[in-house]
Amino acid sequence: MTDVFLIHLRLPQPPLIERAAEILRAGGIVAFPTETVYGLGANALDDFACEKIYAIKQRPRHNPLIVHVADIAAVQQITTHWSDTAQELARRFWPGPLTMVLPKGNSVSSVVTGHGPTVAVRIPQHPIALELLRAARLPVAAPSANRSQMLSPTTAEHVLTGLPQGVDMILDGGPTNGGIESTVVDLTCAVPTLLRPGLITPHELRQVVPNLQIAPHLTSDDSLGELTLATELSPASMATTPALLDSGAYAILGGLTPKPTAGTAQLKSGETLPPLPAPGMLARHYAPQARMECWQNGSWRRVQELCRAGQPVGWIKWQDTPLIRHELVRTVELPRNVEVFARRLYAILHNFDEQRLPHVVVELPPEEEIWLAVRDRLRRGAILWSEKRDTKTLAESTAI
Ligand code: TXA
Ligand code: MG
Repeated sequence: MTDVFLIHLRLPQPPLIERAAEILRAGGIVAFPTETVYGLGANALDDFACEKIYAIKQRPRHNPLIVHVADIAAVQQITTHWSDTAQELARRFWPGPLTMVLPKGNSVSSVVTGHGPTVAVRIPQHPIALELLRAARLPVAAPSANRSQMLSPTTAEHVLTGLPQGVDMILDGGPTNGGIESTVVDLTCAVPTLLRPGLITPHELRQVVPNLQIAPHLTSDDSLGELTLATELSPASMATTPALLDSGAYAILGGLTPKPTAGTAQLKSGETLPPLPAPGMLARHYAPQARMECWQNGSWRRVQELCRAGQPVGWIKWQDTPLIRHELVRTVELPRNVEVFARRLYAILHNFDEQRLPHVVVELPPEEEIWLAVRDRLRRGAILWSEKRDTKTLAESTAI
Protein backbone atom coordinates (compact mmCIF):
# COMPACT_ATOMS: atom_id res chain seq x y z
CA MET A 1 0.00 0.00 0.00
CA THR A 2 1.22 3.45 -0.85
CA ASP A 3 0.49 6.30 1.55
CA VAL A 4 -0.05 9.61 -0.23
CA PHE A 5 0.32 12.77 1.84
CA LEU A 6 -0.48 16.28 0.71
CA ILE A 7 2.41 18.41 1.83
CA HIS A 8 2.83 22.16 1.88
CA LEU A 9 5.03 23.35 -0.96
CA ARG A 10 6.94 26.14 0.75
CA LEU A 11 6.62 25.15 4.40
CA PRO A 12 6.58 21.34 4.36
CA GLN A 13 5.10 20.05 7.62
CA PRO A 14 7.97 18.69 9.78
CA PRO A 15 6.06 15.59 10.97
CA LEU A 16 5.46 14.50 7.38
CA ILE A 17 9.06 15.15 6.42
CA GLU A 18 10.27 13.20 9.47
CA ARG A 19 7.99 10.28 8.63
CA ALA A 20 9.34 10.18 5.06
CA ALA A 21 12.95 10.45 6.31
CA GLU A 22 12.33 7.57 8.69
CA ILE A 23 11.06 5.40 5.82
CA LEU A 24 14.24 6.17 3.84
CA ARG A 25 16.47 5.38 6.83
CA ALA A 26 14.63 2.06 7.25
CA GLY A 27 15.34 1.08 3.62
CA GLY A 28 11.92 2.07 2.24
CA ILE A 29 10.91 3.96 -0.88
CA VAL A 30 9.57 7.54 -0.90
CA ALA A 31 8.45 9.45 -4.00
CA PHE A 32 8.87 13.20 -3.69
CA PRO A 33 8.64 16.29 -5.90
CA THR A 34 11.71 18.06 -7.24
CA GLU A 35 11.81 21.19 -9.39
CA THR A 36 12.08 18.96 -12.49
CA VAL A 37 9.91 15.83 -12.07
CA TYR A 38 8.95 13.53 -9.17
CA GLY A 39 11.76 11.27 -7.94
CA LEU A 40 11.62 7.73 -6.53
CA GLY A 41 13.91 7.89 -3.51
CA ALA A 42 15.91 5.29 -1.58
CA ASN A 43 18.95 5.39 0.70
CA ALA A 44 21.93 5.54 -1.71
CA LEU A 45 24.16 3.77 0.82
CA ASP A 46 21.86 0.74 1.03
CA ASP A 47 22.21 -1.89 -1.73
CA PHE A 48 18.97 -3.57 -0.82
CA ALA A 49 16.94 -0.34 -0.90
CA CYS A 50 18.45 0.67 -4.24
CA GLU A 51 17.70 -2.76 -5.72
CA LYS A 52 14.05 -2.07 -4.95
CA ILE A 53 14.12 1.00 -7.19
CA TYR A 54 15.24 -1.03 -10.20
CA ALA A 55 12.58 -3.64 -9.47
CA ILE A 56 9.75 -1.12 -9.05
CA LYS A 57 10.72 0.77 -12.20
CA GLN A 58 11.58 -2.39 -14.16
CA ARG A 59 14.75 -0.54 -15.00
CA PRO A 60 17.76 -2.26 -16.57
CA ARG A 61 20.41 -2.55 -13.85
CA HIS A 62 23.15 -1.05 -15.98
CA ASN A 63 21.30 2.29 -16.13
CA PRO A 64 22.61 4.15 -13.06
CA LEU A 65 20.65 6.39 -10.68
CA ILE A 66 21.14 10.05 -9.71
CA VAL A 67 22.09 10.67 -6.08
CA HIS A 68 20.44 13.67 -4.41
CA VAL A 69 22.04 15.47 -1.48
CA ALA A 70 21.35 18.63 0.50
CA ASP A 71 24.74 20.40 0.33
CA ILE A 72 28.22 20.38 -1.17
CA ALA A 73 29.78 18.81 1.93
CA ALA A 74 27.55 15.79 1.32
CA VAL A 75 28.60 15.66 -2.35
CA GLN A 76 32.24 15.62 -1.33
CA GLN A 77 31.58 12.60 0.88
CA ILE A 78 30.39 10.49 -2.04
CA THR A 79 33.00 11.50 -4.64
CA THR A 80 36.79 11.19 -4.72
CA HIS A 81 37.54 14.37 -6.65
CA TRP A 82 35.94 17.82 -6.43
CA SER A 83 37.43 19.98 -9.22
CA ASP A 84 37.40 23.75 -9.69
CA THR A 85 34.96 23.24 -12.57
CA ALA A 86 32.62 21.29 -10.30
CA GLN A 87 32.88 24.05 -7.71
CA GLU A 88 32.07 26.73 -10.30
CA LEU A 89 29.12 24.80 -11.70
CA ALA A 90 27.82 24.19 -8.19
CA ARG A 91 28.17 27.87 -7.31
CA ARG A 92 26.19 28.91 -10.38
CA PHE A 93 23.54 26.17 -10.66
CA TRP A 94 23.02 24.46 -7.28
CA PRO A 95 20.59 24.00 -5.77
CA GLY A 96 18.98 23.39 -9.14
CA PRO A 97 18.34 21.15 -12.14
CA LEU A 98 21.97 20.27 -12.88
CA THR A 99 23.38 16.77 -12.39
CA MET A 100 27.16 16.32 -12.36
CA VAL A 101 28.85 13.00 -13.07
CA LEU A 102 31.88 12.68 -10.77
CA PRO A 103 34.31 9.95 -9.67
CA LYS A 104 32.47 7.65 -7.26
CA GLY A 105 33.43 7.36 -3.60
CA ASN A 106 33.36 3.97 -1.83
CA SER A 107 30.41 4.69 0.43
CA VAL A 108 27.90 4.85 -2.44
CA SER A 109 26.20 1.58 -3.26
CA SER A 110 27.56 0.23 -6.54
CA VAL A 111 23.98 -0.77 -7.29
CA VAL A 112 23.30 2.98 -7.67
CA THR A 113 26.06 3.48 -10.20
CA GLY A 114 25.38 0.38 -12.27
CA HIS A 115 28.70 -0.94 -10.90
CA GLY A 116 30.54 1.84 -12.76
CA PRO A 117 33.32 4.11 -11.45
CA THR A 118 31.30 7.36 -11.55
CA VAL A 119 28.35 8.76 -9.64
CA ALA A 120 25.77 11.29 -10.84
CA VAL A 121 24.89 13.87 -8.17
CA ARG A 122 22.61 16.84 -7.77
CA ILE A 123 21.34 19.22 -5.11
CA PRO A 124 17.70 19.88 -5.98
CA GLN A 125 16.07 23.24 -5.48
CA HIS A 126 12.60 22.11 -4.44
CA PRO A 127 11.82 22.94 -0.77
CA ILE A 128 10.20 19.55 -0.09
CA ALA A 129 13.12 17.64 -1.62
CA LEU A 130 15.65 19.73 0.29
CA GLU A 131 13.85 19.36 3.60
CA LEU A 132 13.60 15.62 3.10
CA LEU A 133 17.32 15.31 2.30
CA ARG A 134 18.23 17.39 5.36
CA ALA A 135 15.99 15.36 7.63
CA ALA A 136 17.14 12.00 6.28
CA ARG A 137 20.83 12.98 6.60
CA LEU A 138 21.48 10.52 3.78
CA PRO A 139 22.35 10.68 0.10
CA VAL A 140 19.15 9.65 -1.69
CA ALA A 141 19.19 7.80 -5.00
CA ALA A 142 16.21 9.02 -6.98
CA PRO A 143 15.44 8.35 -10.60
CA SER A 144 12.26 9.76 -12.07
CA ALA A 145 9.29 7.99 -10.45
CA ASN A 146 7.96 6.22 -13.54
CA ARG A 147 8.25 2.82 -15.13
CA SER A 148 11.40 2.51 -17.19
CA GLN A 149 11.06 4.11 -20.63
CA MET A 150 7.70 5.72 -19.88
CA LEU A 151 6.86 9.38 -19.29
CA SER A 152 8.32 11.01 -16.19
CA PRO A 153 5.75 12.10 -13.57
CA THR A 154 5.03 15.74 -12.91
CA THR A 155 2.29 15.09 -10.34
CA ALA A 156 1.75 12.66 -7.45
CA GLU A 157 -1.17 11.14 -9.40
CA HIS A 158 1.19 10.27 -12.26
CA VAL A 159 3.43 8.45 -9.75
CA LEU A 160 0.57 6.52 -8.22
CA THR A 161 -0.89 5.52 -11.57
CA GLY A 162 2.46 4.58 -13.12
CA LEU A 163 3.88 2.74 -10.08
CA PRO A 164 0.99 1.13 -8.23
CA GLN A 165 3.25 -1.35 -6.37
CA GLY A 166 6.23 -0.99 -4.05
CA VAL A 167 6.25 2.72 -3.18
CA ASP A 168 5.86 3.21 0.59
CA MET A 169 4.98 6.90 0.58
CA ILE A 170 4.34 9.71 -1.89
CA LEU A 171 4.79 13.31 -0.79
CA ASP A 172 2.27 15.21 -2.89
CA GLY A 173 3.56 18.75 -3.31
CA GLY A 174 1.48 19.51 -6.42
CA PRO A 175 2.66 19.74 -10.03
CA THR A 176 6.37 20.25 -10.60
CA ASN A 177 7.43 23.49 -12.14
CA GLY A 178 10.24 22.50 -14.53
CA GLY A 179 8.40 19.63 -16.20
CA ILE A 180 11.39 17.82 -17.73
CA GLU A 181 14.49 16.29 -16.16
CA SER A 182 17.76 17.86 -15.05
CA THR A 183 20.70 18.56 -17.33
CA VAL A 184 23.45 15.93 -16.93
CA VAL A 185 27.10 16.95 -17.40
CA ASP A 186 29.98 14.47 -17.17
CA LEU A 187 33.03 15.96 -15.45
CA THR A 188 35.03 12.74 -15.55
CA CYS A 189 35.91 13.11 -19.26
CA ALA A 190 38.92 15.09 -20.51
CA VAL A 191 36.46 17.83 -21.56
CA PRO A 192 33.19 18.42 -19.64
CA THR A 193 30.48 16.76 -21.70
CA LEU A 194 26.73 17.31 -21.85
CA LEU A 195 25.15 13.84 -21.62
CA ARG A 196 21.50 14.79 -21.24
CA PRO A 197 20.06 18.18 -22.17
CA GLY A 198 17.65 19.50 -19.56
CA LEU A 199 16.28 22.61 -17.95
CA ILE A 200 19.71 24.28 -17.88
CA THR A 201 20.65 25.08 -21.47
CA PRO A 202 24.05 24.57 -23.17
CA HIS A 203 24.27 28.36 -23.47
CA GLU A 204 23.97 28.78 -19.68
CA LEU A 205 26.52 26.01 -19.07
CA ARG A 206 29.05 27.58 -21.43
CA GLN A 207 29.07 30.71 -19.30
CA VAL A 208 30.85 28.57 -16.70
CA VAL A 209 32.38 25.88 -18.92
CA PRO A 210 33.22 27.52 -22.26
CA ASN A 211 34.73 24.30 -23.68
CA LEU A 212 31.60 22.21 -23.01
CA GLN A 213 31.21 19.32 -25.42
CA ILE A 214 27.86 17.99 -26.54
CA ALA A 215 27.81 14.17 -26.48
CA PRO A 216 27.55 12.82 -30.04
CA HIS A 217 24.35 10.90 -29.33
CA LEU A 218 22.55 14.22 -28.86
CA THR A 219 23.41 15.70 -32.21
CA SER A 220 23.55 12.71 -34.51
CA ASP A 221 20.29 11.24 -35.70
CA ASP A 222 22.07 8.03 -36.63
CA SER A 223 22.96 7.41 -33.01
CA LEU A 224 19.31 6.89 -32.25
CA GLY A 225 19.66 3.76 -34.32
CA GLU A 226 16.21 2.40 -34.59
CA LEU A 227 14.41 5.71 -34.78
CA THR A 228 15.11 7.19 -38.15
CA LEU A 229 13.73 10.18 -39.92
CA ALA A 230 10.49 10.26 -41.83
CA THR A 231 11.82 12.19 -44.73
CA GLU A 232 10.44 9.84 -47.36
CA LEU A 233 7.34 8.53 -45.69
CA SER A 234 4.06 9.86 -46.94
CA PRO A 235 1.44 10.51 -44.28
CA ALA A 236 -1.04 8.55 -46.35
CA SER A 237 1.08 5.42 -46.15
CA MET A 238 1.25 5.79 -42.39
CA ALA A 239 -2.52 6.02 -42.12
CA THR A 240 -2.97 2.93 -44.21
CA THR A 241 -0.28 0.85 -42.50
CA PRO A 242 -1.35 0.64 -38.89
CA ALA A 243 0.14 -2.85 -38.77
CA LEU A 244 3.51 -1.23 -39.24
CA LEU A 245 3.08 0.85 -36.15
CA ASP A 246 1.61 -2.03 -34.20
CA SER A 247 4.35 -4.44 -35.05
CA GLY A 248 7.11 -2.98 -32.95
CA ALA A 249 8.05 -0.22 -30.58
CA TYR A 250 9.12 1.89 -33.53
CA ALA A 251 8.28 2.41 -37.10
CA ILE A 252 11.48 2.53 -39.08
CA LEU A 253 10.72 5.46 -41.18
CA GLY A 254 11.96 5.88 -44.68
CA GLY A 255 12.93 2.21 -44.82
CA LEU A 256 9.51 1.11 -43.55
CA THR A 257 10.97 -1.86 -41.69
CA PRO A 258 10.20 -2.35 -38.03
CA LYS A 259 13.16 -3.56 -35.96
CA PRO A 260 13.48 -4.57 -32.33
CA THR A 261 15.10 -1.81 -30.32
CA ALA A 262 18.05 -1.77 -27.97
CA GLY A 263 15.86 0.14 -25.57
CA THR A 264 13.34 -2.62 -25.20
CA ALA A 265 15.87 -5.25 -24.13
CA GLN A 266 15.37 -6.10 -20.45
CA LEU A 267 18.08 -7.51 -18.21
CA LYS A 268 17.35 -10.32 -15.82
CA SER A 269 17.79 -9.70 -12.12
CA GLY A 270 21.41 -10.08 -11.05
CA GLU A 271 22.78 -9.71 -14.56
CA THR A 272 25.35 -6.94 -14.86
CA LEU A 273 26.37 -5.07 -17.95
CA PRO A 274 28.74 -2.10 -18.03
CA PRO A 275 26.85 1.10 -17.12
CA LEU A 276 25.43 2.95 -20.08
CA PRO A 277 27.93 5.50 -21.43
CA ALA A 278 25.34 8.27 -21.31
CA PRO A 279 21.87 8.85 -19.95
CA GLY A 280 18.83 8.55 -22.09
CA MET A 281 20.87 6.47 -24.54
CA LEU A 282 17.98 4.09 -24.70
CA ALA A 283 16.29 5.01 -27.94
CA ARG A 284 12.90 4.26 -26.43
CA HIS A 285 12.43 6.61 -23.49
CA TYR A 286 10.09 9.27 -22.16
CA ALA A 287 7.31 7.62 -24.16
CA PRO A 288 3.55 7.98 -23.81
CA GLN A 289 1.33 4.97 -24.39
CA ALA A 290 -0.13 6.66 -27.46
CA ARG A 291 1.74 6.43 -30.73
CA MET A 292 3.41 9.82 -30.83
CA GLU A 293 4.42 11.40 -34.11
CA CYS A 294 6.42 14.61 -34.42
CA TRP A 295 6.03 16.75 -37.49
CA GLN A 296 8.04 19.83 -38.34
CA ASN A 297 5.49 20.81 -40.92
CA GLY A 298 2.11 19.54 -41.92
CA SER A 299 1.12 18.19 -38.54
CA TRP A 300 -2.36 19.45 -39.36
CA ARG A 301 -2.36 17.27 -42.48
CA ARG A 302 -1.52 14.21 -40.40
CA VAL A 303 -4.25 15.12 -37.89
CA GLN A 304 -6.78 15.43 -40.71
CA GLU A 305 -5.73 12.08 -42.08
CA LEU A 306 -6.16 10.33 -38.76
CA CYS A 307 -9.61 11.89 -38.39
CA ARG A 308 -10.60 10.67 -41.82
CA ALA A 309 -9.46 7.21 -40.80
CA GLY A 310 -11.73 7.49 -37.73
CA GLN A 311 -8.78 7.63 -35.31
CA PRO A 312 -8.97 9.87 -32.20
CA VAL A 313 -5.88 12.02 -31.89
CA GLY A 314 -4.31 14.41 -29.39
CA TRP A 315 -2.67 17.36 -31.13
CA ILE A 316 -0.03 19.60 -29.56
CA LYS A 317 0.26 22.66 -31.75
CA TRP A 318 1.53 26.21 -31.68
CA GLN A 319 -0.92 28.94 -30.84
CA ASP A 320 -0.51 30.48 -34.28
CA THR A 321 -1.37 27.32 -36.25
CA PRO A 322 -5.02 27.27 -37.40
CA LEU A 323 -7.35 25.00 -35.48
CA ILE A 324 -8.95 21.86 -36.88
CA ARG A 325 -12.44 21.46 -35.48
CA HIS A 326 -13.34 17.78 -35.43
CA GLU A 327 -14.88 15.60 -32.76
CA LEU A 328 -11.95 13.17 -32.88
CA VAL A 329 -9.29 15.84 -32.20
CA ARG A 330 -8.19 16.97 -28.73
CA THR A 331 -6.06 20.05 -29.20
CA VAL A 332 -3.61 21.67 -26.81
CA GLU A 333 -2.05 24.92 -27.92
CA LEU A 334 1.34 26.03 -26.63
CA PRO A 335 3.18 29.32 -27.02
CA ARG A 336 6.60 29.27 -28.67
CA ASN A 337 8.23 29.45 -25.27
CA VAL A 338 10.62 26.73 -24.18
CA GLU A 339 9.94 26.96 -20.42
CA VAL A 340 6.17 26.70 -20.91
CA PHE A 341 6.54 23.86 -23.43
CA ALA A 342 8.83 21.90 -21.08
CA ARG A 343 6.59 22.48 -18.05
CA ARG A 344 3.47 21.29 -19.85
CA LEU A 345 4.73 18.55 -22.19
CA TYR A 346 4.63 15.45 -19.96
CA ALA A 347 1.44 16.60 -18.21
CA ILE A 348 -0.30 16.94 -21.58
CA LEU A 349 0.94 13.54 -22.74
CA HIS A 350 -0.15 11.93 -19.46
CA ASN A 351 -3.56 13.54 -19.97
CA PHE A 352 -3.85 12.23 -23.54
CA ASP A 353 -2.97 8.75 -22.22
CA GLU A 354 -5.66 9.04 -19.55
CA GLN A 355 -8.13 9.77 -22.36
CA ARG A 356 -6.78 6.64 -24.08
CA LEU A 357 -6.10 8.46 -27.31
CA PRO A 358 -4.32 6.05 -29.64
CA HIS A 359 -2.42 8.79 -31.48
CA VAL A 360 -0.61 11.97 -30.55
CA VAL A 361 0.69 14.40 -33.14
CA VAL A 362 3.15 17.10 -32.07
CA GLU A 363 4.16 20.17 -34.01
CA LEU A 364 7.94 20.14 -33.63
CA PRO A 365 9.87 23.03 -32.12
CA PRO A 366 12.65 24.37 -34.35
CA GLU A 367 16.11 22.80 -34.45
CA GLU A 368 17.64 25.48 -32.22
CA GLU A 369 19.90 24.81 -29.27
CA ILE A 370 17.45 26.24 -26.76
CA TRP A 371 14.97 23.52 -27.75
CA LEU A 372 17.58 20.72 -27.48
CA ALA A 373 16.12 19.15 -24.32
CA VAL A 374 12.49 19.27 -25.48
CA ARG A 375 13.39 17.86 -28.90
CA ASP A 376 15.48 15.13 -27.25
CA ARG A 377 12.49 14.02 -25.13
CA LEU A 378 10.12 14.16 -28.09
CA ARG A 379 12.47 12.22 -30.29
CA ARG A 380 12.91 9.39 -27.80
CA GLY A 381 9.18 9.18 -27.08
CA ALA A 382 8.09 9.29 -30.72
CA ILE A 383 7.48 6.48 -33.16
CA LEU A 384 7.69 8.87 -36.06
CA TRP A 385 9.83 11.94 -36.61
CA SER A 386 9.37 14.08 -39.69
CA GLU A 387 11.30 17.19 -40.47
CA LYS A 388 10.08 17.15 -44.04
CA ARG A 389 9.42 20.58 -45.45
CA ASP A 390 5.79 20.97 -46.38
CA THR A 391 4.84 24.05 -48.29
CA LYS A 392 1.11 23.48 -48.37
CA THR A 393 -0.85 25.40 -45.77
CA LEU A 394 -3.89 24.26 -43.88
CA ALA A 395 -6.06 26.71 -45.81
CA GLU A 396 -5.01 25.07 -49.09
CA SER A 397 -5.84 21.60 -47.88
CA THR A 398 -9.13 19.86 -48.39
CA ALA A 399 -11.58 20.18 -45.54
CA ILE A 400 -12.34 17.09 -43.50
O1 TXA B 1 15.57 15.76 -12.98
C1 TXA B 1 16.08 14.67 -12.74
O2 TXA B 1 17.27 14.42 -13.00
C2 TXA B 1 15.20 13.60 -12.06
C3 TXA B 1 14.87 14.09 -10.66
C4 TXA B 1 14.10 13.06 -9.88
O3 TXA B 1 16.05 14.46 -10.01
N1 TXA B 1 15.85 12.34 -12.07
C5 TXA B 1 16.03 11.64 -13.20
O4 TXA B 1 16.63 10.41 -12.98
O5 TXA B 1 15.72 12.02 -14.29
P1 TXA B 1 16.64 9.25 -14.08
O6 TXA B 1 17.23 8.06 -13.41
O7 TXA B 1 15.30 9.10 -14.63
O8 TXA B 1 17.67 9.76 -15.12
C6 TXA B 1 19.01 9.87 -14.73
C7 TXA B 1 19.89 9.69 -15.90
C8 TXA B 1 19.80 8.27 -16.41
O9 TXA B 1 19.48 8.30 -17.77
C9 TXA B 1 21.18 7.71 -16.17
O10 TXA B 1 21.64 6.97 -17.29
C10 TXA B 1 22.05 8.95 -15.95
O11 TXA B 1 21.23 9.93 -15.44
N2 TXA B 1 23.13 8.64 -15.03
C11 TXA B 1 23.03 8.30 -13.74
N3 TXA B 1 24.24 8.04 -13.24
C12 TXA B 1 25.14 8.22 -14.23
C13 TXA B 1 26.54 8.11 -14.33
N4 TXA B 1 27.28 7.73 -13.29
N5 TXA B 1 27.12 8.38 -15.51
C14 TXA B 1 26.37 8.76 -16.58
N6 TXA B 1 25.03 8.89 -16.54
C15 TXA B 1 24.42 8.62 -15.39
MG1 MG C 1 13.87 8.78 -15.93
